[in-house]
Amino acid sequence: MNSTQFYLLFTTLSLTSATTSFAIYARPGCDDTCGNVQIPYPFGIGSGCYFNPWYAVDCNSSTPYLSSINNLQILTLNLENQTVTVNVSMTSDCQTPVRNSSQILTVDLGRTPFLFSQEHNKFTVEGCGNAVILEQDNLLTGCSTICQNINTTNRNNCYGINCCQTTIPYYLETYSVNISGLESRGPDGACGSAFLVDERSYSVGRFLVGNTFVPISLKWTLTEQEVRGTGCSNVGRQQLDLGNGTTIESYKCSCSPVERGSAYLVDGCEVVRECANCTNGECQVNGSGNITCIPYPFSQARSKSSTLGVVLGVSISVGVLILTATIFALYKVIEKTKDKRRRERFFKRNGGILLKQQESADESLVDKTTLFTAKELEKATDYYNENRILGKGGQGTVYKGMLTDGRIVAVKKSKIVDESQLEQFINEVVILSQVNHRNVVKLLGCCLETEVPLLVSEFIPNGTLFEHIHGNNDEFPLTLNTRLRIATEIAGALAYLHSATSIPIYHRDIKSTNILLDDKNRAKVADFGTSRFVSIEQTHLTTLVKGTFGYLDPEYFQSSQFTEKSDVYSFGVVLVELLTGERPISLTRLGEHRSLATHFMLAMEEGQVMSIIDLRIVNDGSRGELMAVANLAKQCLNLTGKNRPTMKEVASELESIRMAHVPATGRTDVTNSKYNAGQQEELIML
Ligand SMILES: *[C@@H]1O[C@H](CO)[C@@H](O)[C@H](O)[C@H]1NC(C)=O
Ligand SMILES: *[C@@H]1O[C@H](CO)[C@@H](O)[C@H](O)[C@H]1NC(C)=O
Ligand SMILES: *[C@@H]1O[C@H](CO)[C@@H](O)[C@H](O)[C@H]1NC(C)=O
Ligand SMILES: *[C@@H]1O[C@H](CO)[C@@H](O)[C@H](O)[C@H]1NC(C)=O
Ligand SMILES: *[C@@H]1O[C@H](CO)[C@@H](O)[C@H](O)[C@H]1NC(C)=O
Ligand SMILES: *[C@@H]1O[C@H](CO)[C@@H](O)[C@H](O)[C@H]1NC(C)=O
Ligand SMILES: *[C@@H]1O[C@H](CO)[C@@H](O)[C@H](O)[C@H]1NC(C)=O
Ligand SMILES: *[C@@H]1O[C@H](CO)[C@@H](O)[C@H](O)[C@H]1NC(C)=O
Ligand SMILES: *[C@@H]1O[C@H](CO)[C@@H](O)[C@H](O)[C@H]1NC(C)=O
Ligand SMILES: *[C@@H]1O[C@H](CO)[C@@H](O)[C@H](O)[C@H]1NC(C)=O
Repeated sequence: MNSTQFYLLFTTLSLTSATTSFAIYARPGCDDTCGNVQIPYPFGIGSGCYFNPWYAVDCNSSTPYLSSINNLQILTLNLENQTVTVNVSMTSDCQTPVRNSSQILTVDLGRTPFLFSQEHNKFTVEGCGNAVILEQDNLLTGCSTICQNINTTNRNNCYGINCCQTTIPYYLETYSVNISGLESRGPDGACGSAFLVDERSYSVGRFLVGNTFVPISLKWTLTEQEVRGTGCSNVGRQQLDLGNGTTIESYKCSCSPVERGSAYLVDGCEVVRECANCTNGECQVNGSGNITCIPYPFSQARSKSSTLGVVLGVSISVGVLILTATIFALYKVIEKTKDKRRRERFFKRNGGILLKQQESADESLVDKTTLFTAKELEKATDYYNENRILGKGGQGTVYKGMLTDGRIVAVKKSKIVDESQLEQFINEVVILSQVNHRNVVKLLGCCLETEVPLLVSEFIPNGTLFEHIHGNNDEFPLTLNTRLRIATEIAGALAYLHSATSIPIYHRDIKSTNILLDDKNRAKVADFGTSRFVSIEQTHLTTLVKGTFGYLDPEYFQSSQFTEKSDVYSFGVVLVELLTGERPISLTRLGEHRSLATHFMLAMEEGQVMSIIDLRIVNDGSRGELMAVANLAKQCLNLTGKNRPTMKEVASELESIRMAHVPATGRTDVTNSKYNAGQQEELIML
């Protein structure tokens, strides 16, 4: 069996409780079906049940109607594809009083959030002759058939003999069908007809005899704001081409492949019942929607997992210890099994670890990590084309890619898999899938079935903070106001990681190359490769010193004990970088001045700090403001960790400096999207 066809569920122990509840499709107190049509939210029957009036459904004698669009009859609703299939009139020569005259039917959705779906509909002509489909007066496509004796043709296909079919080029708001000279198909009394039809509902001849209606799929669209407004944690985006040079972006919220329900509702997704008994394996759904429970391949992994089950309810910190032990045990196991099926085992093993992660995660933080197939990512990155490389670093290579739904992503491909690399990768997945903060790079998913593990995260288009401070980027001036905002955003994200998450997360490698800027130049903290979870008892971690020279906390360097204050120190260096525009390790200064932190502290001591402020901002703010930032940086760079403020204190101090700051007139915070990622000299790591 080909594992690329599989999705995988991070089976959790909470699954057992899932057996007693049901997938939720409608808001509380609302009906979720009408007749035998399921009506999932954002659609709803009756006031208070739908997302907005466009999605209102009338249920009349067990038949649902879309009341916002001319009471079109709803045949099916599909959350995954965001389609509503409706019953729409078609054009047929039966309606033509005089054969061979032209017949036109126009269907118009106007200014609604619905579009005729380009993917799901086909323009179809049955009969002998030809017909065209037009948008307003523009010919979109046409189709013509040749006629043959009906008895000698295969009635089941539609390849140009008595029947033809073609795709439409765009998503449409309106269309017209013009038939002229379309002859009836023969002795069975069917009319010649031309219509747009939902491809999956169509089979030759099915809608013809005595019927004037066909199923058509409409794409319903939601804006990002609307989808995020529902509290959605798994937002997807699709670009819809309207043909005249415009595309619109449509957002959706989905459950994972082994879940059912409406993801737009709070707790709407439920794991399917078939997975309920799959507590000793991975619940998978294959291409044909068949769900199977694949037992864990390793006996060790299995016994660990059941041990974990007992312990977890008791204490999260114990859970974390076991998690660490399990990760350790798992890659020990892998080391021993370097056989031909290594790839398959990587997949299973990685899945097993994610499983533990979900178990130990705070329920409110449970975020469904999408699993990408190897094929999908190959396609997205054009087979890891060199042109797509965004950055290379110690841990691997980052590629830019485009998913089939149009989303631009960054795919991080780790280097050779060895023990430490694997641990870093898993660390990153485990941590990032729990983190949901606007200033932390969002992990979209990962790919576990490749030998080299892959991480997929949102693509942050505007490069690193390092490039903006130190590059010759005149197009986007970093004003004092912008710098204060960026500093506040980073501090806020770190404060969140240190204290707002269920388990403190230390970044351990804060530096300006790990701060990315998005299209609105908002800061996003990236690269959690060296991060660690820290349980409450374990606030001092003794490990090999890792970090980047120039940002490394000297106290940590000496003691090998990483504390939350080590992140504060590194942040202090970034703050000084923002303030002075100097590199953390100078290429031109000498001696102890080579280190920016030391250079800055010496200048502070000598009362000379104003002389090293970046000339680009020195006139943006008052001396008082600049000194306030410099003093804060000085506190962060205190050689004694416990004398440094916490990230939370830093964030609130920066916030108040920023609130008090009135940007100099005439300056604006220009957003520059023309940044060319190809010119980077420094690495971007996610
Ligand atoms: C629903 O039924 C009512 C009463 O039978 C009727 O007045 C109304 O037009 C119907 N609505 C639709 C959409 O068929
Ligand atoms: C969504 O649309 C695609 C393309 O038409 C189709 O292959 C797929 O089966 C659809 N999914 C569902 C759940 O209907
Ligand atoms: C579509 O609408 C027509 C006219 O109301 C009706 O006769 C036909 O049964 C409908 N089709 C389906 C599949 O309900
Ligand atoms: C329709 O036109 C075709 C040729 O254009 C002709 O052969 C046929 O007889 C016409 N049918 C009628 C009913 O006029
Ligand atoms: C086509 O088949 C029908 C019955 O199936 C028959 O009545 C008719 O004569 C046949 N026509 C030709 C041209 O063979
Ligand atoms: C419909 O097609 C016929 C034949 O091609 C053409 O004469 C007529 O003008 C068309 N009508 C419209 C509205 O385009
Ligand atoms: C493109 O078409 C859509 C729908 O017909 C319309 O709303 C939009 O204004 C058009 N854009 C341009 C640039 O013509
Ligand atoms: C789960 O297992 C129990 C007992 O073995 C069985 O009664 C139940 O039907 C199973 N449920 C599913 C959904 O397979
Ligand atoms: C899905 O799984 C079922 C049962 O395990 C199997 O019969 C079927 O062939 C699988 N389909 C695909 C597309 O792998
Ligand atoms: C899954 O596969 C089994 C046979 O292996 C088949 O009987 C069943 O209908 C399939 N279920 C689905 C949902 O495809």
